Amino acid sequence: MKLNNIEQLSLEEILVAIADEFANQAAFSTSLSWEDQVITHHIFVNKLPIRVFTLDTGRLFPETYHVLNRTIARYEQPIEVFFPQVEATQELMTNKGPLSFYESLENRKECCFIRKVEPLNRALEGVKCWITGLRAEHSENRQDLEMIEKDEQRNLIKVQPLLNWTLDDVKAEISKNNIPYNILHDKGFVSIGCQPCTRAIKEGEDFRGGRWWWEDKSKKECGLHAS
Ligand code: ADX
Ligand code: SF4
Repeated sequence: MKLNNIEQLSLEEILVAIADEFANQAAFSTSLSWEDQVITHHIFVNKLPIRVFTLDTGRLFPETYHVLNRTIARYEQPIEVFFPQVEATQELMTNKGPLSFYESLENRKECCFIRKVEPLNRALEGVKCWITGLRAEHSENRQDLEMIEKDEQRNLIKVQPLLNWTLDDVKAEISKNNIPYNILHDKGFVSIGCQPCTRAIKEGEDFRGGRWWWEDKSKKECGLHAS
């Protein structure tokens, strides 16, 4: 299997190897971030049999919907959109209001579970290879990741083709291929998630300093990538 040599392969070679080995059972989850846009670009220009999907939490920035729209227009290929379950979301909003995540870590994780984790699990049904845009530079937690790992819980292989890319590598690729990206990235937002839980960072702040900024640094994962 070509993926045994993953460290030696270019992004394009990794995606082609995945498409060969897992045709139609591979899926890429895009948050429409600049790293994810690089991966989407290479999947779509090569018309690879890899599904591309995004989780619309219902709380995204308007700018994020603009990237989604520009991406569909540019590549004319589908990005599947997964929504949270109606009943669970209605119950959460009715019982706890629209901003419960600021009140406790438990509430924040509950919201992330309903709006992201459960839809992700649905999106990954039947998937044997899950591609993500995780990079080691994002956080201390992510430095321990491997480019290819087994997700035992979900019974699939998880691949991070950009794990060792720097932010400058990502930006250079965006600019070289004129890839559409979120204009919030030009306004100090580096890592972008839901609007109420994301803010711009200042010079010198951590990459993920603008995500769930009111919480302890070590707790800043939403559960999508919990091992
Ligand atoms: S998060 O766990 O903190 O939200 P982050 O924003 O760093 O994740 O993104 C890391 C990777 O998780 C992305 O490259 C993407 O593969 C996946 N991801 C995060 N948010 C979404 C989303 N809304 N839809 C689809 N994939 C997502
Ligand atoms: Fe809810 Fe914030 Fe998590 Fe989005 S990031 S799902 S709004 S807690």
